[in-house]
Amino acid sequence: MKIRKSLFFSIAAMLLQVSAFAQSPIVIKFSHVVASDAPKGQAAQRFKELAEKATHGRVKVELYPNSTLYKDKEELEALQLGAVQMLAPSLAKFGPLGIKEFEVFDIPYIFPSKDVLYSVTQGPIGKDLLKKLEPKGITGLSFWDNGFKDFSANKPIHLPSDIKGLRLRIQSSKVLDTQMRVLGATPQVLAFSEVYQALRSSFVDGTENPPSNLYTQKMYEVQKHMTITNHGYLGYAVIVNKKFWDGLPGDIRDELNQAMAEATMYANTIAQQENDKALAAVKKTGKTKVYVLNDQEKAAWRKALLPVQKEVEQRIGKDLVANINKEAA
Ligand code: LMR
Repeated sequence: MKIRKSLFFSIAAMLLQVSAFAQSPIVIKFSHVVASDAPKGQAAQRFKELAEKATHGRVKVELYPNSTLYKDKEELEALQLGAVQMLAPSLAKFGPLGIKEFEVFDIPYIFPSKDVLYSVTQGPIGKDLLKKLEPKGITGLSFWDNGFKDFSANKPIHLPSDIKGLRLRIQSSKVLDTQMRVLGATPQVLAFSEVYQALRSSFVDGTENPPSNLYTQKMYEVQKHMTITNHGYLGYAVIVNKKFWDGLPGDIRDELNQAMAEATMYANTIAQQENDKALAAVKKTGKTKVYVLNDQEKAAWRKALLPVQKEVEQRIGKDLVANINKEAA
């Protein structure tokens, strides 16, 4: 009797364990470097909601914003090692992985409009670019937009010559390095999480970012001037650890792909709105003076930055650059 009773309890305990295991959700750790209220932060939140709803709780998405888990370079290493499952790094940060082609997005003025940008990111060129991640153990899911960058510094910047001699923070892209050198500035690669402090301590004189990043990182506290140059693009590739992704049950992967498609639509809808809102908010602080270029000044910036494309196209791939230019024509 005693033996039967203890057998009953052991089996019951085992069944409980099995069912708890069957119900424990698949966890996706999604790390990123911007604030939760920046466009990428908001799109990540939307993905979390959509993914958890679509999978009826079988997937749990844990968000780690603002470099709380990893900084720029570390987060890519962490993804490859499987310490996190999902990231959305800026397209300017893939060079150190050995993927130079993503730097095509950094070529100044390469996208004359958002329509051209979307025809690239949502079309065959974008698909081919994401495929380049596979040999690195990474699956590319999508592109998220965050609009065009503006220069900021502690002195007024109207013409390209105003940049000369400044030390400016850049992301880890050789194209951005070339861009700054062409302007006679000194580029300084820094992780995004280090930018505010570097500006505050005058380790660097200025930087480039869309208004949404400048505002949500409070860079307006440490930059007296900002100029709407819209000279370069900032967007993201949403990526996952390939082994993790391939190992998911097929139905869950389908649901997550659907959630990602919807989150991408959301990301690309809010990017411009959020940047417009952020620019208005920066102006309202009264701490950073925002300068709008006149037509002559705009032309001077284009002319000054034109040589960048010629200098970098060999590195990136002439065909890729030509194909994007074709979309823009
Ligand atoms: C930067 O490092 O300036 C940006 O790429 C940060 C981001 O992810 O928007």
